[in-house]
Amino acid sequence: MLTLHRINPHLVWLGHAVADYHQICDVRGDILIGVSKTFYIETFGCQMNAHDSEKVIGTLEHEGYIQVSDEAEAGLILYNTCSIRDKAEQKVFHRLNEYKRMQGEGKQFGVLGCVAQQEGERIFERAPYVSLVAGSASYRNLPQMIARLEAGENRITGLDDRQTDQTFDTEFTARSNPHRGYITIIEGCDKFCAYCVVPYTRGKERSRTSASVLVEARRMADQGFTDIQLLGQNVNSWRDPSGRLSFAELLTAVGNISGIRRVRFTTSHPRDFTLDIVEAIDATPTLCDHIHLPVQSGSSSMLRAMSREYTRDWYLERMSWIHAAKRDISITSDMIVGFPGETDADFEQTITLLGAVRYDAVFAFKFSPRPNTPAVGMPDTISDELKTERLRILNDRQREIQREHYARHLGQTVEVMIESHNPARGQIVGRSTQNKTVNFTLEPGVPDPPIGSYLPIHITRTMPNCLIGEAIAGSIPSQTTPKAQPFVVLN
Ligand code: 5AD
Ligand code: SF4
Repeated sequence: MLTLHRINPHLVWLGHAVADYHQICDVRGDILIGVSKTFYIETFGCQMNAHDSEKVIGTLEHEGYIQVSDEAEAGLILYNTCSIRDKAEQKVFHRLNEYKRMQGEGKQFGVLGCVAQQEGERIFERAPYVSLVAGSASYRNLPQMIARLEAGENRITGLDDRQTDQTFDTEFTARSNPHRGYITIIEGCDKFCAYCVVPYTRGKERSRTSASVLVEARRMADQGFTDIQLLGQNVNSWRDPSGRLSFAELLTAVGNISGIRRVRFTTSHPRDFTLDIVEAIDATPTLCDHIHLPVQSGSSSMLRAMSREYTRDWYLERMSWIHAAKRDISITSDMIVGFPGETDADFEQTITLLGAVRYDAVFAFKFSPRPNTPAVGMPDTISDELKTERLRILNDRQREIQREHYARHLGQTVEVMIESHNPARGQIVGRSTQNKTVNFTLEPGVPDPPIGSYLPIHITRTMPNCLIGEAIAGSIPSQTTPKAQPFVVLN
């Protein structure tokens, strides 16, 4: 018996399997297809990877495959990989070693994503049972690659590198959350920061037209999605190939779609961050009060060495635009400690920047040398002990800042979108427009609000990483009408 993770909502799973022949019927009871094609996919890394997997799943389902949640039940095992830091890459090879035990079982293996692009055919040498190695810039050719797999080929590559001008637009996206969904608006990266592998693994910057983004957003709104996150490695470097809209205008246009209540965008690059983005957020209530603007370092000389092409002051000017906004816009960032040549004085500049900006969250990483990047060969490397120490100091300081800064929400009423129920703690978990987790309780006897609904919450306590509150009496919706199926294939 198969445990199905998800199936196309237009189909009804009959719940039985004879050997590896699974019958699927349509809603009228007619047998549509007899398939023995099952796949398992595991995803590592960023939101771009998570959303790529949703598109890969949708594409495979369109090709007649069924996703299963246990690799033992899968004919095809896919691994969507991340190589942003060495640790992430090591995980891939560790996992591939585990696959080894299954190689005699007639299964096929594929490695997708950034490690696939970075390592290319070397993966076949390290793991000869792998049949498919494909980077994200080649996913538009996935149906052809899958057909070749089915024909028994066993060294198929999709390694487009920086050649392609095309984006991976597919109608067949299997979104795993019926309320909140991603839309990729720009793929790849042309910035070539000295530490970063992404320009080598995800290809050159390619933007989708505003028309195709808006069609996808409207379709999602029609299906009941209320929260849309626009995605790109540098989302605000998006340039409309049709020349119609600026990035800020695109945000506003998505925010004005009927039914959409929240629009987020990630990740932004300071170099392309313009004042009209802040003005758009101020003017459009559906644009979330949150900007993730990675600074990487507070030291101008480190920023120069990293090829970020802005200075501390230039970055702080963008922060002053956000601080001057009418809305309380939450700011978050990524930072790297221990980049080659980082002195105590440079690191101190990063620490003082934390206080100057007052971020609501910082994702800090120890510098990890990556293949092909200019930073690999840079002198003055920092010891791992010193990197660990700087990371600890940074995280401790940031925690202090968050403890103080989150206190501004005490006594406020914050609208949350319900994400999950935590019966063990008697709490419900929601998310605010600022992307903060809000854990709250209901009055006794009040039924749990449905996942995906929105509620005003009175904040009674604040922590460094979350808010705690109580639902406001009488505000619980008796029911919501989520139009979307739990899993949706757009076609
Ligand atoms: N070492 C450490 N952190 C890195 N990042 C990107 N490349 C590296 C690297 N080589 C971090 C940056 C980026 C985030 C996604 O990962 O902070 O913003
Ligand atoms: Fe990497 Fe820099 Fe591109 Fe971001 S902007 S993906 S850090 S090269």
